[in-house]
Amino acid sequence: MAHIDEHPAGSALVAVIGLGTMGAGIAEVFARSGYRVRGIENDAAALERGRSLLQKSTARAVARGKLEAEGQQQLLGRIDLGTDLSAVADCSLVVEAVSERLDLKTALFAELDRLAPPEALLATNTSSLSITAIAAATARPERVIGVHFFNPAPVQTLVEVIRTVSTSDDTVERTYAILRTIQKTPIGCGDRAGFVVNALLIAYLNRAVRLYQDGFASREEIDQSMVDLAGYPMGPLALLDLIGLDVAHAVLVRMYDETRDRLHAPAPLLTQLVTAGRLGRKSGRGFYGYS
Ligand code: CAA
Repeated sequence: MAHIDEHPAGSALVAVIGLGTMGAGIAEVFARSGYRVRGIENDAAALERGRSLLQKSTARAVARGKLEAEGQQQLLGRIDLGTDLSAVADCSLVVEAVSERLDLKTALFAELDRLAPPEALLATNTSSLSITAIAAATARPERVIGVHFFNPAPVQTLVEVIRTVSTSDDTVERTYAILRTIQKTPIGCGDRAGFVVNALLIAYLNRAVRLYQDGFASREEIDQSMVDLAGYPMGPLALLDLIGLDVAHAVLVRMYDETRDRLHAPAPLLTQLVTAGRLGRKSGRGFYGYS
């Protein structure tokens, strides 16, 4: 089988496992660049959610003039949805984007290792778990790598490429080449909690939660200040709602575990909102309400 990087578009097959916010966005990005994509979910209900996310996001791209209506249909037509993991059998790249649970991911990678072609790259989009631990669940740790996309994946061009002590140079080079074919900008980093972006960004977001919980300012004042002053596209509390409070919390927990730096101790209010199920946009309520 030819390597995916010899076929930047058209015939190359990419599997995306998990079609939540990130997985659906990643599937969209590959399909937009001409790749054939297998989108795989656990069950029919999750698959339908993924289909709806893909439909909505591409409709938004059409509404914003980024895609023709015909292009939307072609893009969606390049994504085959299913629940059978053995569909990875002829894929050159597998990108995993399931829930952030190490037991789930290690079990999944052991299966993917069994089912995917031996030369296929196995990538994880995890933002909070050890890629080294995920790679260790396979017999091909040299072909396991982190590809950390940002939300919303169809819009954000940056992707962190995380190598472990086991990842081979060839895997890193192939991953960079693939990401360039989908118009992303890869940056490399090692497997440490938070990688580069979250080590900076999530600490700042956590600080904003502390300001709000301690009554220093309203959520609107905190958010507006960073939009007006720093030119950020959205304020920190609105951004937490977009990212998912549970995702940000998981990143903080791992960063705190690894560094013991108090900067990364999750703000109590953040923990409480996660416990209460107020996870942000995806659950309809976080710091703000969404209908
Ligand atoms: N495909 C292509 N382009 C699309 C698109 C799609 N599916 N959907 C939207 N776009 C484009 C729009 O055309 C628009 O482009 P222009 O600016 O060139 O017109 C742009 O994306 C913005 O879209 P909208 O106008 O619809 O939305 P907006 O202006 O309200 O912006 C936002 C929304 C993109 C989310 C913006 O507010 C933003 O970038 N916020 C910051 C997000 C951020 O920081 N993300 C990183 C979070 S950290 C993370 O994800 C990692 C982690 O591990 C936690």
